Amino acid sequence: MADPERILITGVSSGLGHALVEALLARGVRVAGVARRGEALRALAERHPERFLPLVLDVTDSAALRAAIATAAATFGGLDAVVANAGIGIPATADTIRTEDVRRVLETNVVAAIETLLFALPYLRKSPAPLLAATTSMAGWRAGPGAAPYCASKAALIAFLDALRAELHAEGIRVLDIAPGFVRSEMTARNAFAMPFLMETHAAAEQMARAILRRKSHVSFPLPMTALAWMFRRLPDRLYDLLARHVAKKLRREGTLGIAQASGSTPHP
Ligand SMILES: NC(=O)c1ccc[n+]([C@@H]2O[C@H](COP(=O)([O-])OP(=O)(O)OC[C@H]3O[C@@H](n4cnc5c(N)ncnc54)[C@H](OP(=O)(O)O)[C@@H]3O)[C@@H](O)[C@H]2O)c1
Repeated sequence: MADPERILITGVSSGLGHALVEALLARGVRVAGVARRGEALRALAERHPERFLPLVLDVTDSAALRAAIATAAATFGGLDAVVANAGIGIPATADTIRTEDVRRVLETNVVAAIETLLFALPYLRKSPAPLLAATTSMAGWRAGPGAAPYCASKAALIAFLDALRAELHAEGIRVLDIAPGFVRSEMTARNAFAMPFLMETHAAAEQMARAILRRKSHVSFPLPMTALAWMFRRLPDRLYDLLARHVAKKLRREGTLGIAQASGSTPHP
C-alpha cells in the first residue's frame, strides 16, 4: 500500500497542527491547511507555494468546510488523508460553566471534526492509501476535573472514530486516533495548573506525522503520560473517583481548578 501524499489538516495556524504541517512538508507531502487566522497560513504558502494550500475558514461553518475539502481535492487531484485537528478547550467548573461555551466546544471538537472526516470520505474512497485521522486527547480516556466539556468532547470523538474504524476496515480505509498528553501550544499555555510530562510541540508533531504516514490506528504520546493515563483508564470506577476527587481538592486549594491563565482568560477567538 502507498503512503498518503495529499493530506488535509484542520487547525494549522498554531500548535500541533502547524508543527504537523511543517513535519509533513519536510517529507515531501502536499498539504491543505485549514484555520481562521490567515496570516500563519499565508506564511506557510509563501514558503511552500507548490505544496501548501491555505484554506482560511471556520470549521463550524459546514458549507465552507465542505467547499474547502472539495477545493483541496480538486487542487491536488484527490485526497489521501484528512486530519481533524482543530480544537478548543475552555476551562470551567460546575459553578462557572456556561452552556454557550459547552455548545462551542462540542460544535468545534465533535461536530466539525466529524464533518471534516465525513466530507472527505468520498475523496478518500478513490485514494490508494486512505486515512481518516483526528486529534483526540487522553482527556477523553477518563475525564478529570476542571474541563468537563473538553473531556466530554474528546470522549465523543474517540467513540466516533472507533465505530468508523470497524465500519471502514473492509474497504481498506484506516482510521487513526491521535491521543496526545500535554503538549506545548497556545491551548496549554492558558492552563493554570501544572502539566505532567509536558512535551515539546515539534516532538509531538513528529510522532503524529509518522503515525499518519504509516496509517496506524492509534498513537499516543509522550510515553510516561500514556502509561499514567492508561492506568487511570483501567482503574475500578470507585478508585478512580477517589483519585479524581483528591485532584479536584488539590487544584481548588491551589486556585487552579477550571481556571485559565490571566493572559489567556479570554476564550479562544
Ligand atoms: N496541546 C495539548 O496538550 C493537546 C493535548 C491533547 C489534545 N490536543 C488537541 O490538539 C488539537 C490542537 O490543539 P493545540 O494544542 O495545538 O492548540 P492550539 O495551538 O490552540 O491550536 C488549535 C488550532 O485549531 C484551530 N481552530 C480552533 N477553532 C477553529 C475553528 N472554529 N475553525 C478553524 N480552526 C480552528 C486554531 O486556529 P484558528 O484560531 O486560527 O482558527 C488552531 O490552529 C486540538 O484538537 C486539541 O484538543 C492538544
